[in-house]
Amino acid sequence: MTRLQDRVAVVTGAAGGMGRAHCLRLADEGADILALDLEQHAAGLAVLAEEVESRGRRCVTGFADVRDPLAVEEAVNTGVAQTGRLDVVVANAGVYADLAPAWELSDESWQRALDINLTGVWHTVRAGAPHLGAGGSIVVVGSVNGVKGGASAAHYSASKHAVSGLVKTLANELGPQGVRVNIVHPGSVATPMILNDEVYAKVRPDLPNPTREDAAAALARRNILPVPWVDPVDISNAVLFFASDESRYVTGTQLVVDAGLTQKV
Ligand SMILES: NC(=O)c1ccc[n+]([C@@H]2O[C@H](COP(=O)([O-])OP(=O)(O)OC[C@H]3O[C@@H](n4cnc5c(N)ncnc54)[C@H](O)[C@@H]3O)[C@@H](O)[C@H]2O)c1
Repeated sequence: MTRLQDRVAVVTGAAGGMGRAHCLRLADEGADILALDLEQHAAGLAVLAEEVESRGRRCVTGFADVRDPLAVEEAVNTGVAQTGRLDVVVANAGVYADLAPAWELSDESWQRALDINLTGVWHTVRAGAPHLGAGGSIVVVGSVNGVKGGASAAHYSASKHAVSGLVKTLANELGPQGVRVNIVHPGSVATPMILNDEVYAKVRPDLPNPTREDAAAALARRNILPVPWVDPVDISNAVLFFASDESRYVTGTQLVVDAGLTQKV
């Protein structure tokens, strides 16, 4: 598989569910990986590096909280100094937590969502873009909550709508240099972000202690296709499309991968 042969991709949130899948999928297609995440996930990054290297590709790891612009810039610059080039930026890190009606959200929860899901993407793009040449690609991971509203997630939905606007603007600004910018909007994806008790309780308020199976039944009813969620690799395949030359004339675009959630009548 050579759709990204010898290119280099930086991925944020790389130790987590979806970020890990992006790294492995891109490596499967011949890319070397610069994998960034919080320092507390050092062990996860080390395991990921082994998995990438077992595919015959290089994996440089680094720590950066995407809220910290200097840390992101230093991690990207240090990584690119080792890989020698950068072709793809995958701004994937995000949080979906503290779920509550808008008027019950604390200022801290609101700010944290905006700081990570919006400003963190901006920091990532700002650090990565100067290294990209013609043919470079920036892929942002948004959400169906950036396409429609989401109950008990005003902070998250606002951040994902805002980052969609950022993508469209960046596409205009970077296009003349041959750099494309696109966004993937996942629906429910089987990662720790939604496979947890807080989300189970939100989607099954009718039950005292809902389980993963209880939540799956409710989430499946939201989709057109008969599945509760998609796998991380389903999103990684969309990321790969935007990262590769197969989408060479696609920019400023939003690709929804959601088992039909946003179109369900
Ligand atoms: N899982 C879903 O159902 C779903 C649906 C729609 C969109 N998304 C989006 O997909 C992306 C990946 O989510 P996931 O499901 O893999 O979540 P996850 O919680 O499994 O992983 C998120 C990763 O981001 C990292 N991260 C969080 N805060 C960070 C910070 N401040 N700085 C650096 N890294 C940070 C975490 O350490 C973790 O590795 C997110 O942008 C999320 O909003 C997820």
